[in-house]
Amino acid sequence: MSIDIAIIPVAGHGTRLLPLTKSQPKEMLPVGRKPVVQYVVEELARSGIRRQLFVTGPGKTAIENHFDENSELIQLLRTEGKEELLLELEFERHTMEYFYTRQRRQLGLGHAVLCARPLLDRQPFVVALGDSIIGLNAQSDIVRRMIDVFEGEGAAATIAFEEVPPREVSRYGIAQPKGDPVDVFELEDLVEKPSVADAPSNLAIAARYVCSPAVFTRLAETPPGAGGEIQLTDALRSLIRDGKRVMGVRLAAHEQRFDIGNFGSYFRAFTEFALADPDYGHLLREHLEGLLAKPSGDLGL
Ligand code: UTP
Repeated sequence: MSIDIAIIPVAGHGTRLLPLTKSQPKEMLPVGRKPVVQYVVEELARSGIRRQLFVTGPGKTAIENHFDENSELIQLLRTEGKEELLLELEFERHTMEYFYTRQRRQLGLGHAVLCARPLLDRQPFVVALGDSIIGLNAQSDIVRRMIDVFEGEGAAATIAFEEVPPREVSRYGIAQPKGDPVDVFELEDLVEKPSVADAPSNLAIAARYVCSPAVFTRLAETPPGAGGEIQLTDALRSLIRDGKRVMGVRLAAHEQRFDIGNFGSYFRAFTEFALADPDYGHLLREHLEGLLAKPSGDLGL
């Protein structure tokens, strides 16, 4: 049976986006017309993943509400003759199943994944970070390609990687590939936040993973690392160290990762998605061109 379930961790505090995230989940922030996590689910659906298991935490109920079917709203739109707006709620009725569990203490991404273990039994699964969109408007089938590699290579795990400018390697988990990193490659190791001089490549982990159940076993044995958190990367490294096959798949050029974890990349993501909007993109472009033509002093810089 092919993999059809994804764990979507959405329980983090999102402290880098305070005060925006004080009472709303960062995964619900708007990027263009949709909240981040809706793009994540749509991308997964495109890759054939129909069962989504969210690992939520305090203050995250807006996510559950978003994926519930709101029959009252649907009825209201019908009686008011606003049929065209019903299309905007199509995603509610996708042939999708949503499940929820809680991470009772925010002990890191690896711990969030481990919280799903009792519900998954012994099957392989996808992990898709709830604060990252792959590709403009989530036009990506990276997860499908990763599953093909995972199954074809008999891998213990497969990780998505994105090329980043060398000066940025110290912000990410970085691949140490075996041999030349072509589109698909085997990993020799993973290095967490290396200095530019020590980085074995400029391929950064890009928010999507395919894991065998062995990853749960490793996570359960992984002691807390940086910041007292249980890191998914540490569990994956332990698999590699034991000679298990862990594969990397590179994102294609059109599959940029939009990380909604800090203000710099959130602003860039919003601007790009808004500029691509079929109705308002051209107006925003004109507005931005007008603003950029002004001396920077007039922009409060
Ligand atoms: P981040 O690594 O960005 O952590 O999470 P964070 O805690 O949300 O944000 P900061 O560092 O405080 O700003 C990446 C993804 O993993 C989830 C987050 O919700 C996000 O979707 N996550 C992170 C959890 O589910 N649990 C955790 O303990 C940490």
